[in-house]
Amino acid sequence: MNLFDLMIKRRSVRCFKDTKIPDEIINNLVQVANNAPSGGNIQPISIIIIQKVEGRKKLTEFVGGQPWVENAPLSMIFCIDFYRIKKWTLKSDTDFQGENSLSHFLIAYADLMGAAQNVVILAESYGLGSVYVGSIQSKIDDVREYFSIPKYVLPMMVLSIGYPESIPKNIPKLKHNLIAHNEKYKILSDDEIAEAYNNKYGDFDENVDKYLEKAYIEVIEASKQHKTSWIKLVKQMMKKLEIRNHAQFLFKLRYPSKAMVELNKKQIQAFKNAGFNIF
Ligand SMILES: Cc1cc2nc3c(=O)[nH]c(=O)nc-3n(C[C@H](O)[C@H](O)[C@H](O)COP(=O)(O)O)c2cc1C
Repeated sequence: MNLFDLMIKRRSVRCFKDTKIPDEIINNLVQVANNAPSGGNIQPISIIIIQKVEGRKKLTEFVGGQPWVENAPLSMIFCIDFYRIKKWTLKSDTDFQGENSLSHFLIAYADLMGAAQNVVILAESYGLGSVYVGSIQSKIDDVREYFSIPKYVLPMMVLSIGYPESIPKNIPKLKHNLIAHNEKYKILSDDEIAEAYNNKYGDFDENVDKYLEKAYIEVIEASKQHKTSWIKLVKQMMKKLEIRNHAQFLFKLRYPSKAMVELNKKQIQAFKNAGFNIF
């Protein structure tokens, strides 16, 4: 398969076979992460490799019980790592203040995602599947404590990887020419924007099961892999919150706007606990 087809066909995989990934492959995945572009080539990242059941279980707990994290034979915790650089610069009679610099933080997070995405693509080429798990960001303190992560290191993203048991077929996406602007930003009318999202999701389906398959694949997969009927819970929530369209589903139910803003306090505190003072 050529690279374009591989990248167009890639889907986040959440159902894995219980097959160990060979060490040479894991080593190659780490090599491509390390070879990713990095602002100033500073490489402010570390990756914690989790394969043992105990670590997988604990990590699953920290990401809100997403069962694919426990079921994947491999998870990588991608961390912004300023600890190593601070030690090095101190020994070199200078100082690095990444923990106080928004610019260093933003570049480091961009580096981290570039490295992780290199892993996604190489993994795909080996017939592996992967899924990012960003909810680790709400449990930074717990993750740091359990995995012995020192000050100035922030666990920011999990990538769970394994041989796919099943791969989702169709995930709605915006039309690609909508996200590209020629030379100058083209402001769309409200109707054009509404149409773009209608094109992405289709009509809001009265058949909730069909709707969830399209718009919330995580809940379908979680219900298959865990005894809790997440689908039932989501349906109850949809009724209670009177969800009538896709935007309400996303920002009243999945990512409730108020709760997302309130999360700031906890996350800023977790950053402070890790020695970061940027917000
Ligand atoms: C930053 C980021 C965080 C994500 N967090 C989660 C997560 O916590 N759980 C999960 O199952 N998928 C997570 N995903 C995967 C997305 O749900 C997935 O990429 C999206 O539904 C589009 O599907 P696709 O990857 O197949 O194109 C995350 C993806 C990104 C880029």
